[in-house]
Amino acid sequence: MCEQLMRRLGRVLSSCAWTLVLATGLAQAAWDDMPEEEYLEIVTEKFKEGNYSPKGADNCLMCHRRSAKVMALFDGAHGRTGPEASPMHPEQLQCEACHGPQGNHNRGGREPMLTFGPDAKLPAEAQNSVCLSCHKQGDQSAWHGSIHDIEALPCSQCHEVHAAHDPSRDREAATENCLSCHQEQRAQIHMRSSHPIRTGQLGCTDCHNPHGSLNEAMLSQHSVNDNCYSCHADLRGPFVWEHAPVAEDCSSCHNVHGSINEAMLNSRQPLLCQSCHASVHTGTPVYQSGQDAFGGGRSCLNCHNMVHGSNHPSGKLLQR
Ligand code: HEC
Ligand code: HEC
Ligand code: HEC
Ligand code: HEC
Ligand code: HEC
Ligand code: HEC
Ligand code: HEC
Ligand code: HEC
Ligand code: HEC
Ligand code: HEC
Repeated sequence: MCEQLMRRLGRVLSSCAWTLVLATGLAQAAWDDMPEEEYLEIVTEKFKEGNYSPKGADNCLMCHRRSAKVMALFDGAHGRTGPEASPMHPEQLQCEACHGPQGNHNRGGREPMLTFGPDAKLPAEAQNSVCLSCHKQGDQSAWHGSIHDIEALPCSQCHEVHAAHDPSRDREAATENCLSCHQEQRAQIHMRSSHPIRTGQLGCTDCHNPHGSLNEAMLSQHSVNDNCYSCHADLRGPFVWEHAPVAEDCSSCHNVHGSINEAMLNSRQPLLCQSCHASVHTGTPVYQSGQDAFGGGRSCLNCHNMVHGSNHPSGKLLQR
């Protein structure tokens, strides 16, 4: 029996005394240290054999019910037994729908089960394929090929299945999770002007789909401007007198996550305007006599205040 166990674990175990320890419940350490290849070999083989437990969750819970973490599954979305699509529905594979077939996990061998999370041995892509077997529609439909897929984020980097409340359902907690990796955005939302993300009024997922989208920067809307219009509808226009860059791309003047300038502008005035209108007014009296106007707080905007477009019959120069 000792020999068989050793073969299963594929490790050179020094003595049978050690295997006894394994058999009495400290087995986890054995596969924690197991080389990834070996682990993958065992779980792949287990899948091929498809040796699911006939007793479903009841069987698993004989050994796992003392863990509060495991039992918390039943307080969350995946623990419901009613809905047919729920893994815990009597017709479904229950625990094994996610953790894979039991095989000999419950016997002396203690074959490993599939485990999840950033530190799990199972590569993110394989973990995610388990979740995607039920969640490939809707918001998750563009996961394949998205940046987070390519960067090998496991679903459980952001989601908790054994929990009453999945953390992604809380806007502030979800945003904090995003910021743990996105340091540049963390800095930006603390700048002089920013969208009210710090206060929790907006979250990253008001604009982005973290599961990927067919649009640039995983935006939920088709373009940057469509994103802005979804909340700033008054700037959608059309205006009698358009200001070309506004209709084209709001981010040519604004940094949406925050900026050291007022109104999340990319640079301060008049530099902002001059970055495109370099030679304007230079030879005219308004420029020569107007240093104050140009140097003052709102400079160009003192006269051209309808910077987003104008509906005034004589608003061609965005002055009214
Ligand atoms: C005979 C007892 C027994 C049965 C039955 C059993 N397990 Fe385990 N399981 C263990 C032991 C012991 C461990 C290793 C120590 C631990 O993590 O609690 C373990 C570990 C696990 C782990 C890995 C935990 C980790 O953090 O690495 C998962 C997942 C798991 N079992 C799921 C299941 C599922 C699903 C079932 C039912 C199909 C099941 N177990 C049935 C005893 C059992
Ligand atoms: C919907 C998929 C899913 C189902 C169903 C599921 N699990 Fe899990 N399980 C996970 C994920 C994902 C984790 C990693 C932790 C987390 O996300 O909460 C996990 C973690 C675990 C762990 C390790 C917990 C620890 O202490 O860190 C054990 C043991 C476990 N599950 C056993 C079970 C048992 C027993 C059942 C059935 C009652 C079950 N799981 C049903 C997905 C699932
Ligand atoms: C057997 C099918 C199945 C599998 C496998 C599965 N889920 Fe689910 N999941 C569901 C169902 C059913 C719901 C509830 C949907 C609803 O209420 O609309 C759900 C809900 C969710 C929700 C919403 C949670 C909430 O509180 O509303 C998240 C997040 C989620 N699943 C993530 C995952 C992750 C991550 C995995 C892989 C570890 C996974 N699911 C595996 C069927 C599954
Ligand atoms: C980078 C973090 C992140 C990753 C990775 C991630 N999610 Fe999500 N997920 C979220 C957030 C945040 C929400 C809440 C979205 C909202 O508030 O609109 C969510 C919502 C969900 C929901 C419930 C709402 C819905 O869209 O129906 C499901 C189901 C879900 N995710 C499944 C998955 C699956 C499956 C994976 C892996 C393929 C995954 N998620 C990977 C952050 C993530
Ligand atoms: C009000 C909408 C909005 C909110 C809220 C928002 N973003 Fe964005 N984000 C955008 C737009 C629009 C772009 C694309 C234009 C750009 O890069 O400025 C973008 C781009 C990005 C990029 C790609 C940047 C690059 O340089 O390629 C990352 C990463 C990002 N956002 C992360 C986040 C994170 C993390 C949060 C939450 C703290 C967040 N965003 C909140 C609208 C938003
Ligand atoms: C575990 C780290 C991690 C977490 C957590 C995370 N991301 Fe990312 N994200 C990345 C990496 C890595 C990239 C690719 C490099 C980059 O653009 O910074 C990326 C890229 C992005 C991009 C740019 C996509 C593009 O096409 O340019 C956006 C937008 C984004 N993430 C949004 C989010 C949001 C929203 C959340 C929270 C729901 C989140 N991320 C959570 C690691 C993470
Ligand atoms: C999900 C809704 C939402 C989206 C999408 C959105 N905004 Fe906002 N925006 C807000 C809210 C809320 C405020 C704060 C309004 C207030 O405080 O009165 C705001 C404020 C602003 C401000 C004023 C900030 C200040 O300091 O005065 C600017 C500029 C701005 N948004 C530009 C944009 C641009 C550009 C986009 C697209 C890239 C965009 N917004 C997309 C909701 C949104
Ligand atoms: C040519 C540069 C430029 C472009 C492009 C631009 N803005 Fe602005 N935006 C400004 C300036 C300058 C201010 C400050 C106005 C002020 O202080 O009166 C401003 C202020 C704002 C404000 C806050 C004050 C207000 O007027 O409500 C919002 C919201 C805003 N812009 C949204 C947008 C959106 C949405 C787009 C794209 C449709 C856009 N901006 C494109 C230059 C621009
Ligand atoms: C990203 C480049 C860009 C920025 C930044 C920019 N503009 Fe423009 N602006 C344009 C373009 C392109 C036109 C259209 C020029 C044309 O039709 O000849 C235009 C047109 C104008 C016009 C109307 C001129 C005419 O002859 O119809 C005024 C006035 C104007 N801009 C003022 C401003 C002010 C004030 C700012 C700073 C708040 C600014 N612009 C920032 C690109 C820019
Ligand atoms: C004191 C008021 C005033 C200020 C300040 C002002 N303008 Fe003008 N601007 C005008 C008037 C009046 C015209 C039309 C007459 C002309 O061409 O001189 C004009 C015309 C323009 C035109 C269209 C004509 C052309 O030459 O292409 C642009 C573009 C323009 N201004 C941009 C700017 C920019 C950028 C600034 C800031 C650096 C600015 N203006 C500051 C009053 C002003």
